[in-house]
This record gives sequence, C-alpha cells and structure tokens, in this order.
Amino acid sequence: MTDANRAGARRFPLRFAACRWLLWAAGLGLAACAEDSTPPEAGGEGSVQSHRSGEAVYRRYCFSCHAAGVAGAPRTGDAEAWAPRIAKGRDALLRSTIDGMVGMPAMGLCFDCSEPELVDAIGHMSGTALAP
Ligand code: HEC
Repeated sequence: MTDANRAGARRFPLRFAACRWLLWAAGLGLAACAEDSTPPEAGGEGSVQSHRSGEAVYRRYCFSCHAAGVAGAPRTGDAEAWAPRIAKGRDALLRSTIDGMVGMPAMGLCFDCSEPELVDAIGHMSGTALAP
C-alpha cells in the first residue's frame, strides 16, 4: 500500500462526515425556507370575503320585494318587467341598486354586499346574466 492510498483511506471518513454535515445544513436551510414561504394564516373570518352567489343574496335580501313585486319592484323572472331596466345597462342598474330608487332601498338592504354580488343578484332576478 502506498502512502497516498493510506492517506486517502484515512481521509474518507472525514469527507463523509463533511458531506453529512452539508446535507444537514442544507436540510435546515430548506426547512427554514419552507417556513418562510408558508402563507400567513388567513386572519380568521371576514378577512377574505368570499363571493356569495346571486341566488344566495337574492334569497336573503332582494326576495322580500322582488318576489311579489312590492311597491312596483320588477318581479323575479318577469322578463317583460325587467326588459326596460336591463336596457339601461349593467352600470346604470348597479348604480340605482347602490343608491336606491323610489321604493327601492339603497343596496337593496344588503349593506355588506360587494358590487359583483349585487350584479349577480340582479342577474338572478332578471334572468339575464350581466358582466361581473
Ligand atoms: C324594500 C323592497 C326592495 C328590496 C329589499 C329590494 N328591492 Fe330592488 N326594487 C324595489 C322597487 C320598489 C324597485 C322599483 C323602483 C322604481 O322603479 O322606482 C326596485 C328596482 C330594482 C332594480 C331596477 C333598478 C333600475 O334602475 O331600474 C334593481 C336592479 C334592483 N331593484 C335590485 C335589487 C337587488 C339586487 C336587491 C337585493 C340585494 C333589491 N333590489 C332589493 C324594491 C326593493
């Protein structure tokens, strides 16, 4: 056996140990990265408002007037009553829903409704899908 071989044999466990240490360090690094990149907990209820369907909003808020046509409200599914209103366009309908009209309370009484939710509710009542 030459001296060089002997030295190599002696060095081997050292190198192996160094590799293990590197792997361990890399593992730690990865774990740390993984922790850093975890998205923060969605801060409980209300922080991310989920979109309610037009039907859900309608049943809860708009139904009371628009099902029976209270005070001249265009009735749900009554295409004839809705046609002249739909003709005004999505933005005008959304505006009068938010501001209110004669006999129609502001926001249709859904004060925590988002605009897309109101638009969906109008779409549900009128039977005409409006752009969100
Ligand atoms: C208290 C009764 C009432 C409630 C509740 C109500 N509405 Fe109305 N709504 C009316 C009446 C009455 C009219 C007709 C107003 C008019 O023509 O002057 C109307 C008209 C509308 C119109 C037509 C607006 C236009 O520019 O022609 C839209 C759109 C509408 N409502 C959406 C909604 C939505 C969406 C909800 C629920 C989130 C809702 N309404 C809840 C009474 C109500």
